[in-house]
Amino acid sequence: MPTVLIVGASRGLGLEFVRQYAAGGWRVLATVRDPAGGRVVSEAGAEVYVCDVGDPASIARLAASMGDTRLDLLLHNAGIYGERQQFGAVDGDGFLRVMRVDALAPLKMAESFADRIVEGGIFAAVSSKMGAMSDNTSGGAYAYRAAKAALNMVIKGLSVDLAARGILTVALSPGWVRTDMGGPDAPLEPPEAVAGMRRVLAGLTAADSGGFIHYDGERLAW
Ligand SMILES: NC(=O)c1ccc[n+]([C@@H]2O[C@H](COP(=O)([O-])OP(=O)(O)OC[C@H]3O[C@@H](n4cnc5c(N)ncnc54)[C@H](OP(=O)(O)O)[C@@H]3O)[C@@H](O)[C@H]2O)c1
Repeated sequence: MPTVLIVGASRGLGLEFVRQYAAGGWRVLATVRDPAGGRVVSEAGAEVYVCDVGDPASIARLAASMGDTRLDLLLHNAGIYGERQQFGAVDGDGFLRVMRVDALAPLKMAESFADRIVEGGIFAAVSSKMGAMSDNTSGGAYAYRAAKAALNMVIKGLSVDLAARGILTVALSPGWVRTDMGGPDAPLEPPEAVAGMRRVLAGLTAADSGGFIHYDGERLAW
């Protein structure tokens, strides 16, 4: 039975990943930030761990609590959008908080968990088209855009640094999805976006490693 660790699974896309991987027969390990939110994740089929990815000590505790568990897939889904990030009024502390959670945390997760990912396994992070230079025609959202662009570079770097271990890496774009972050006007529901990203992951090859791939399989420009 393959094993996946889903990071940031309390709601939205992360919770849907838990549901679908559990239904697909995987052993699912999943993290929540607040233990009170763990029940719904456990009912969806996961073994639940607590981790605030913005805190490196919390990531270290998570790794230490997992014993010698081996992972076929580490899926870093946790992310925040940030507030007050429009031009002329950028909140600096908020900017750094988004960078910490959306860009630094996936890198620290990779450092902490690379030894546990099996040869041929995958380290994936949920990124966003908003991190693509080619997609930025509306400006604003400085922290989120910068953090997801940095995340994309992290994924590219990891594809080089983890290649010798046989680990594939990928930045996923879920599309615009109806979650707390995506809001009520988003055209996609989580089941469709997650099913698409699972298809991408299932078909990932060495040639895709370090790439940026939309939920429908399209290879995206940076
Ligand atoms: N929805 C979209 O349209 C869309 C589009 C492009 C990319 N994305 C990306 O997709 C991912 C999931 O987004 P979503 O739409 O499902 O958003 P969401 O409903 O707001 O869920 C965000 C998840 O991240 C977790 N999280 C936030 N900060 C964390 C931290 N410091 N430590 C651990 N977990 C943390 C949240 O946990 P808590 O419940 O504890 O806050 C929650 O489980 C994000 O990376 C987002 O940037 C979403």
